Amino acid sequence: MKKYLEDKIFQIISEAADEQQQECYVIGGFVRDIFLKRASKDIDVVVVGSGIELAKRVASKLGKRANLTIFKNFGTAQVKLRDLEVEFVGARKESYNRDSRNPIVEDGTLEDDQNRRDFTINALAICLNKSRFGELIDPFGGLEDLKNFVIRTPLNPDITFSDDPLRMMRGIRFSAQLGFFLETNTFDAIARNKERIEIISKERIADELNKIMMSRKPSVGFILLEKTGLLELIFPELLSLKGAETKDGIGHKDNFTHTLVVLDNICKHTDNLWLRWAALLHDIGKPLTKRFDSRVGWTFHNHNFIGEKIIPDIFRRMKLPTNEKMKYVQKLVTLHMRPIVLSEEEITDSAIRRLLFEAGDDIDDLMVLCEADITSKNAEKVKKFKANFQLVRQKLKEIEEKDRVRNFQPPIGGQEIMDTFNLPASSIVGEIKTRIKDAIMDGIIPNEHDAAVTYMMQIASEFGL
Ligand code: CTP
Repeated sequence: MKKYLEDKIFQIISEAADEQQQECYVIGGFVRDIFLKRASKDIDVVVVGSGIELAKRVASKLGKRANLTIFKNFGTAQVKLRDLEVEFVGARKESYNRDSRNPIVEDGTLEDDQNRRDFTINALAICLNKSRFGELIDPFGGLEDLKNFVIRTPLNPDITFSDDPLRMMRGIRFSAQLGFFLETNTFDAIARNKERIEIISKERIADELNKIMMSRKPSVGFILLEKTGLLELIFPELLSLKGAETKDGIGHKDNFTHTLVVLDNICKHTDNLWLRWAALLHDIGKPLTKRFDSRVGWTFHNHNFIGEKIIPDIFRRMKLPTNEKMKYVQKLVTLHMRPIVLSEEEITDSAIRRLLFEAGDDIDDLMVLCEADITSKNAEKVKKFKANFQLVRQKLKEIEEKDRVRNFQPPIGGQEIMDTFNLPASSIVGEIKTRIKDAIMDGIIPNEHDAAVTYMMQIASEFGL
């Protein structure tokens, strides 16, 4: 293992630990990531004894180059050097109380410390003391699990998950992030212990969900959340998408499966977390709008608008940000069908202008979402959609170059209308503004000040001016 510990920092920790006669190991994610060939800048060091004392000595050896922070209450310390962050912690033995995530902590051995970790692949440790430098300590077969792509708890999973229920989410997140399988006992224990997720803060759950969202194929995570029963507890709206009903021989697609296909699709084209959220939520209004009509079959009228409306409740409950990120998700959900509807009809300049006006700078993201939403299995249909879509994109470009409506600012403001007709601030002013905007959108006049003034004078009589 020595070749993975070439960074000077490991030599310095090694010397410091020997000088203090402390056993010391690098452990957890850093070791796992060596085998996964993932670069990691967070190094966790576990010390049999005081982590703070070792950190102090390491920092004094490094001198001015390093930054030491001590967290007395937690008994831990951090040394920052260049872009590396090294956490020092004393080996612990933990026992938990059923209703709290706060454990009773006692000093322990390396073995105690490894026992209390979440998964075998996260319990690997490498010794840093000189006499055993580079020795791998793998009591639970973590290396074998890494080779077999398996997520498994080191102890009885009921204990590991009951100790810290966040680990149920972490296990699923690692499966999605790394493309690993949840070992059967581990999976079953999540299903058994799912209710315990209630003691975990919403913020930490949201953190894990966002990590699932940022993985290459988030559907892996959501399918596991659904199968273990966690989804019902943390995100019931998403679960409501599941199921395909048939009436009078007419069926509709399973919107849960469809949503996950759209999500995986979009992940091939963007790393924007919020665009991914828009994909996850694009049909979230469908269960609430589902109707059956014997003439037309299943409908989901206005599901985009209902989706837009319920997103703030979802974000608030899940402690996701309720700021401009959420507004962006709402906007994309509202507009998600527009480009596709456009592509099915004759594409008029006016419809394109209105779309550009409403989407503004998010038009490109909207197009990415809309394209990801094409999931038909009928290859002919998909081909036709994609071709029409190309046409929409081309038209969008042409119209934007010509009319610059993407960030539309009305060429005539309210003040100018009031001054021209000697009007007080009133609803008429708003109506005139809307008429001018509509005339520009419909291509009746160009997006220019002089043309807008002429048009305003023309329509003035309609307002009794
Ligand atoms: N750990 C644990 N239970 C938790 C969180 C962490 O047992 N609920 C242990 C694991 O051994 C983990 C280590 O603490 O490897 C470090 O945790 P953290 O930095 O949160 O996770 P990483 O495994 O490094 O992975 P990531 O940074 O992707 O979260």
